[in-house]
Amino acid sequence: MVAAARTVGGRTGDALPAAAAVEMVHTYSLIHDDLPAMDDDALRRGRPTSHVRFGEALAILAGDALQALAFQALAEAPLPAPTRIESMRRLAIAIGPAGMVGGQTLDMEAARRNPGPSELERIHRKKTGALFGASAALGALAGGADRPLVDRLEAFGLELGLAFQIVDDLLDTEGTTAQLGKAAGKDAAAGKATYPGIHGAEAARREAAHRAGAAKSALRSAPVGGAGAELLEALVDRVLHRSS
Ligand code: IPE
Ligand code: MG
Ligand code: MG
Ligand code: MG
Repeated sequence: MVAAARTVGGRTGDALPAAAAVEMVHTYSLIHDDLPAMDDDALRRGRPTSHVRFGEALAILAGDALQALAFQALAEAPLPAPTRIESMRRLAIAIGPAGMVGGQTLDMEAARRNPGPSELERIHRKKTGALFGASAALGALAGGADRPLVDRLEAFGLELGLAFQIVDDLLDTEGTTAQLGKAAGKDAAAGKATYPGIHGAEAARREAAHRAGAAKSALRSAPVGGAGAELLEALVDRVLHRSS
């Protein structure tokens, strides 16, 4: 988000309240994703998950609280009022029924149902792509970008998010629990709809690289540049080649 702000001419500090808001939403999403009613995971970032450590009720409430705090942070950010409202609007859409929560619903429903390739992409766009897109868009908004530029950065973020989720699903099949800091091999056991599960590992690697290329193209076709743009490109490579 900082890089997105800088790439449109903003300063690091402009993006920090919105970046904190997205970080809080992201943490809420993972706390709830790990709950027994959802993915039922006991390990996250090498540590016990929230519900294991603090109990299910507090984990649900912590997620709820983080979501509220995220919108408070955006409402109180030292940015022009129209920027704050537009940031809240975009984040709400990205994480609501048309975005992340809708995607998580489809992800749960699709388990053991073997969705086709186009439905799989729809799930990924919503559950992961939307929040990545909003991150880039809110960073650009905080940096003072106009609407076409914000939309361009959002398109960049969406492609990056799709690459991220495919790599995440590949790592689930190929990584170790120690390396990932979360239980490996869970997706196949839970019957999750994943890119490597449906298309195989080789096709998944190709698709991740394709999405990474599309993210870079979106960036290169935008009137942006400088250190921020370089950082965003480096981020794409990092997402593609990460091993944890
Ligand atoms: C989670 O996807 C997406 C969210 C919206 C939280 P996963 O269920 O694949 O994420 P991990 O593997 O638990 O990190
Ligand atoms: Mg999940
Ligand atoms: Mg999960
Ligand atoms: Mg996963």
